[in-house]
Amino acid sequence: MSASSPTTLGNTEWFVHDRFGMFIHWGIYAAAARHEWVKKYEEMTDEEYQKYFDHFNPDLYDPQKWARLARQAGMKYFVITTKHHDGFCLWDSQLTDYKATNTPYGQDLIAPMVEAFRAEGLKVGFYHSLIDWHHPHFPIDAVHPQCNDEEALKTNKDRDMAKYVEYLHGQVRELLTNYGKIDVMFFDFSYSDTKGEGLLAPGKGKDDWQAEKLIAMVRELQPGIVINDRTEIPQDYITPEQVQPEGPLTVDGKPVVWEACQTFSGSWGYYRDEYTWKSAQMLVQMLIDGVAKGGNLLLNVGPNARGEIDPRAVERLEAIGEWMRLHNRSIYGCGPADFPAPPDCRYTQNGNRLYLHIFAWPFKHIQLKGLGGKVEYAQLLNDASEIQFTEGGQAHPALPQETTETVVLELPVAKPPVLVPVIELFLK
Ligand code: GLC
Repeated sequence: MSASSPTTLGNTEWFVHDRFGMFIHWGIYAAAARHEWVKKYEEMTDEEYQKYFDHFNPDLYDPQKWARLARQAGMKYFVITTKHHDGFCLWDSQLTDYKATNTPYGQDLIAPMVEAFRAEGLKVGFYHSLIDWHHPHFPIDAVHPQCNDEEALKTNKDRDMAKYVEYLHGQVRELLTNYGKIDVMFFDFSYSDTKGEGLLAPGKGKDDWQAEKLIAMVRELQPGIVINDRTEIPQDYITPEQVQPEGPLTVDGKPVVWEACQTFSGSWGYYRDEYTWKSAQMLVQMLIDGVAKGGNLLLNVGPNARGEIDPRAVERLEAIGEWMRLHNRSIYGCGPADFPAPPDCRYTQNGNRLYLHIFAWPFKHIQLKGLGGKVEYAQLLNDASEIQFTEGGQAHPALPQETTETVVLELPVAKPPVLVPVIELFLK
């Protein structure tokens, strides 16, 4: 099989082909440098949180650098947080003062970013938070920073959701009107993830933010745009978060387009003192694992408050880029394979090219079940060196003789010097 796109309202053809994107979580929380939810986790009031706004001055912000890094890593699209839950807006919205242009930095952060990424050939996506911890009319719900503050809770009776909805829809209209063609709309937060406990309007998120109307507007402003599932009305694709699904994802038994979003170290926003960083090898394996199951990977960076991407992320992105340079044809345009993969391996497939990704390098032989008589040629992808193979039990009497349907590859003893070696199999 190849990358194939189940029928969707938006144009997901490029999306399932491209497979790999960059998520960017950036906002004034980068200054706190301890999670994008710091306002909630430390139950800060607007006044307490204001210091990050007053000191936000990303003087080293150079979106061309970010865009180049993303392209060199093999990423084909990016998704930027236009507004996260804290309500801070990265663009020059006419509907609020709580925006980048009013910080010491004084400039719109979105326009140059969109331009820079487009110039590097990447498609453009906007993340936008449905909930808002700054807007005076957004209710204090169970995940709001003031949810334990008795006095603040009393203000709920004066908060008018209709006013917030007008603001939310108005801002999305701005974003989808002023920045040219937008390819992806990633709404977040979904109450269904909270199991509805103690919320003001359990399970009613979609009614609260008038999701149907919101989506209709998005589709009208940007025909073809790909929309995620988190308004609580299923759209073009689903977005498992920090989890690799067991296999291809389905809804009501039908395959769906999906994208796993993943972090380097756990949090999404810049977190200086987080030390749980994944290795480049694990990240490459996650990308492969997703494609083998028919999904995309949206890998997140959390730039710091000077506007730079953490060197730990840069180092990993460069390593991923080197792997992609040699192996991207086992990713782009690929989807799940028609054959069961051997242990510690993942297959991806594009037409008659089958790609065997070897996560744990075996000793000399690897058996491919179900491929007897089907393989025309095999090579290591990183250097196009032939991999010889035998059919059935001819390789060695000590190897299982079980079936003539098996192909046995003869591998070099030393693992090739790449993060994940790939054998490219040309099928007959
Ligand atoms: C979550 C979190 C958030 C992050 C996002 C990424 O819902 O609230 O901080 O932006 O998912 O998928």
